[in-house]
Amino acid sequence: MNRKEKILVIGACGQIGSELTAALRLKFGTHCVLASDIWPDTGVPRHMFPYLQLNVMDKEALSELMAEGDFTQIYHLAAMLSASGEKNPQPAWNLNMTSLLNVLELSVIHKVSKVFWPSSIAVFGPKAQKTACPQYEITEPTTIYGISKAAGELWCKYYFEKYGLDVRSLRYPGLISAGLPGGGTTDYAVDIFHYAVKGDAYTCFLKGDTKLPMMYMSDAIRATIELMDAPGDRLSVRTAYNLGALSFTPEEIYDTIIKFVPAFHIEYKPDFRQQIADSWPQSIDDKVANRDWGWRPEFDLENMVTDMLNRIRILTRDYSSEVSVSAAGSGYPADVS
Ligand code: SER
Repeated sequence: MNRKEKILVIGACGQIGSELTAALRLKFGTHCVLASDIWPDTGVPRHMFPYLQLNVMDKEALSELMAEGDFTQIYHLAAMLSASGEKNPQPAWNLNMTSLLNVLELSVIHKVSKVFWPSSIAVFGPKAQKTACPQYEITEPTTIYGISKAAGELWCKYYFEKYGLDVRSLRYPGLISAGLPGGGTTDYAVDIFHYAVKGDAYTCFLKGDTKLPMMYMSDAIRATIELMDAPGDRLSVRTAYNLGALSFTPEEIYDTIIKFVPAFHIEYKPDFRQQIADSWPQSIDDKVANRDWGWRPEFDLENMVTDMLNRIRILTRDYSSEVSVSAAGSGYPADVS
């Protein structure tokens, strides 16, 4: 008989974590999914609860939690991204590797059924094929983030083969969502929307013609859940699956945004992140993911841009005047809630 799922999300307040936690709660029920992150619970929004403050580097605390929690699935998302990692190489390596090793080792000890850990297109370096980069390709990453992801993929495979731990992984492209990422090289593709909606000009830290693989968050969340639902014997890749969706340049995303925000202005001031972007592939071949578990992206550039603009407008809308107007009209004071 199947155990009722009990799920732990580590790094739940981040760009992926906040949306993945919500999706897992829809699927399994709010109380079957415990969100955790390094932040004290006083600073965490209410919708993240049930929530627990957890430092994934504290192996003893993680072990105690896993002994009590009897989790069936763990999603370990805490990491330092590529641009921050280049500024802090040793802390990035330490966080990215030690946290993964803690999760892998304790998942075997506490008999967790399935573990998810995200990899990235950053596993690829300048020697990899630039267009339609294949699943099995030379990696040789040049960033600490990429090195930690390439090594982490091999650790995942090692734990699967040696201990039978069912750990699954995806090489996410740059992820685009209304929620802000932090410290990545692909972050421009999120920041640009916030500037467009505010009506401010945007200074892009990559050159206008820098093409990178990208994906809308709702595709990324669906990919994660589909991979975790797939029968284990269908999965031929136990490092991490290539995952493709969109590929565009800053110029192309700008040209799409101005169809909806014609007054928006952009300028380009490339910084150290240009070198990181230049080391990555421009597009990804994901036919192995398609063959093994049916992966197919849904959002194209135009759909993504319209959805992003709508979401950010809703998130940043100032309701105060509208509430006063309707409350005044109804005869109630404006601050009834
Ligand atoms: N979005 C990541 C970064 O830019 C790549 O996976 O670091």
